[in-house]
Amino acid sequence: MLHDVFILLGVTGSIAAYKSAELVRLLRKAGARVQVLMTPDATRFVPPLTLGTLAESEVLTTVFPENEAGSWTKHITLGLSADLLVIAPATAQTIAKLAHGFCDSMLTATALAARCPVMVCPAMDHDMYEHPATRRNLEILRGYGYTIIEPEHGALASGLVGKGRLPEPVHILEAIQAFLHPEKPLVGEHLLLTAGPTREAIDPVRYISNHSTGTMGYALARTARDWGAEVTLVTGPVALPRPAGMRVVEVTSAEEMNQAVQAHLPVATFMVAAAAVADYAPATVSVQKIKKKDEDLHLALRKTPDILYNAGLKKQPDQILVGFALETNDAETHAERKLLRKNLDFIVVNDLSIPGAGFGTDTNQVVILGRDGCRHELPLADKQSIAAGVLRFLVPFLGRR
Ligand code: C5P
Repeated sequence: MLHDVFILLGVTGSIAAYKSAELVRLLRKAGARVQVLMTPDATRFVPPLTLGTLAESEVLTTVFPENEAGSWTKHITLGLSADLLVIAPATAQTIAKLAHGFCDSMLTATALAARCPVMVCPAMDHDMYEHPATRRNLEILRGYGYTIIEPEHGALASGLVGKGRLPEPVHILEAIQAFLHPEKPLVGEHLLLTAGPTREAIDPVRYISNHSTGTMGYALARTARDWGAEVTLVTGPVALPRPAGMRVVEVTSAEEMNQAVQAHLPVATFMVAAAAVADYAPATVSVQKIKKKDEDLHLALRKTPDILYNAGLKKQPDQILVGFALETNDAETHAERKLLRKNLDFIVVNDLSIPGAGFGTDTNQVVILGRDGCRHELPLADKQSIAAGVLRFLVPFLGRR
């Protein structure tokens, strides 16, 4: 199934490097041509002779040729001729280097020069994987358009149990096949997506906002893009890298988000409102910084526009509108009311009382309710998988138009 495909396989210094021998064998069996690039530390776990023999090509570790007369531009040419660069296992160290453009080995230099897509399969101890530095670096890589294959949960080489295991080689092979021969179920669709929080100014230095990080909305935007949709992302202020391959409209307040949505709604075939919009904003914005006084300060608040409600008023018959409901109690009853009031087709219910769901976590657990009374539950998973689950659920309804 991978005939005529040229794969660069990057192997880094994790104990999971032993699995790369099996991966090379499976890739070759599927018909791919494989060039292995090892970081110097990877060679301490697996001899290059093993991977080179299985790949039937000499393993490369350094950009400098063995003999002085050799060519030294291989890191450029490899990345031009390959169909895919897969890094499995990818250590925290290599992920950090890729995120920040370091190129101190054949693998990292090739990655920096590569024009082919890059797939990264992290493998490390649970705490290293969960460290904010690693999480952030992986977000940066996603922003570059790299595909991240989530590690699995289970026993780790350290003796601890947690998330960080490299998936079995056969699963990595499946991910490679799905990537190279992808489904594009959203071709011809135009998604208008709101994401992140809004900020409502009190004075030139202060604002009212909420804890939304934009993670769920950005995951939806990237997946829709990868599935072939044209995407317009209207985003409040977030710390995430700007995703490539879509129109990004940056806004600050609910009023600005409302205007951007109104402007882009007519061309959208479906809209997903994942933004956590502030419901109230200061009635007046002080031009000067409000001075601290001895007595309490009372702020008068006015209601912000309900962006999704307004979109529901203007909805064309063939448009699909999807809202999110973040609830702390009686989640589905409240969400159902919103679904009807805002003239939505579907609402994705986040129940904050469920551990691992909602703001500031990497995971989520949601239920999708439909106007026709349907109910579809997605189990607890990382937000990227939840995004895929929500979009996969919507595909047949979009196709029906
Ligand atoms: O009414 P509530 O805020 O709970 O509804 C949540 C849904 O409505 C979300 O999809 C959110 O993005 C959207 N919303 C909006 N404008 C607002 C408030 C919420 O678009 N002012």
